[in-house]
Amino acid sequence: MSIFVIDEQKCHKDGICVAECPVRIIEMPDPEAPPRPIAGAEELCINCGHCAAVCPHGALSLASMPLDLMPAIRKELEITPEQAEQFLRSRRSIRAYKKEELDRATLQKLIELARFAPSGHNSQPLQWLVISGREQLKALGGVVVEWMRWVIKEQPAMAALMHLERTVGGWEAGMDVVLRNAPHVVIAHCEKENRFGPQAGTLALGYLELAAFSLGLGACWAGYFQAASLFFPPMQKALGLPAGHLPLGCMMVGKPKFHYHRLPLRNQPVITWR
Ligand SMILES: Cc1cc2nc3c(=O)[nH]c(=O)nc-3n(C[C@H](O)[C@H](O)[C@H](O)COP(=O)(O)O)c2cc1C
Repeated sequence: MSIFVIDEQKCHKDGICVAECPVRIIEMPDPEAPPRPIAGAEELCINCGHCAAVCPHGALSLASMPLDLMPAIRKELEITPEQAEQFLRSRRSIRAYKKEELDRATLQKLIELARFAPSGHNSQPLQWLVISGREQLKALGGVVVEWMRWVIKEQPAMAALMHLERTVGGWEAGMDVVLRNAPHVVIAHCEKENRFGPQAGTLALGYLELAAFSLGLGACWAGYFQAASLFFPPMQKALGLPAGHLPLGCMMVGKPKFHYHRLPLRNQPVITWR
């Protein structure tokens, strides 16, 4: 079966799909005939859906992604540059959460939006682990603090750089300095060997953070939690990711306790123009 079919009634033979295909597997040797896949296209196609998404006439339908399952882009939902600027500038790392947990459908929605982040070769290599409930998260936070104590003892220079003494002090004083009392942590993971994994994980969690904000929810990267997951065997055991998987990023998620009223400033970008 061909990887795509062309509706010849609709095709304008404008060559847009040929120009758009990132792996150049669509050809149109005869400008009077509709485009067709090159020989061996099945092995090369990265299933990005661009060919079908870009056709203004709805003439190309992928076998793997039927056109009627690809929603049309709704003009009326497009946001203005001003709205986009405020949205991007007003997302904050949330460090104070309400106790209440999110329902599973909401968490699922966040992950479903995160999967639209770019990934090398459209490989979409990620899997997800969602851990919920204060008791469970507090226990994991305790393991992270164990890792901090180990770093303070064994790698004092690193510990000083990361202010770990102070962080452990906060934990000992009863503060959740690891997960900020968030009711959930979302972990993106993938096979250790996957070379697209690290960028895919970072980008997807960036999307997830923005998606949470768009739903009136809060999120924050859990950097200590991830470092312990990467380097501390007791934490790896407690997380129990599939064998050979690496945590690529960990994100606290919940309902924010407070709202922000101003946009903080950031450093001016350092740019080299050539
Ligand atoms: C990789 C990474 C790890 C982070 N780890 C933590 C963390 O463990 N705890 C925390 O409170 N914030 C953490 N943050 C949040 C940053 O401190 C925050 O992004 C920064 O202060 C800017 O604030 P904003 O995100 O509200 O703009 C982390 C951010 C990143 C990108």
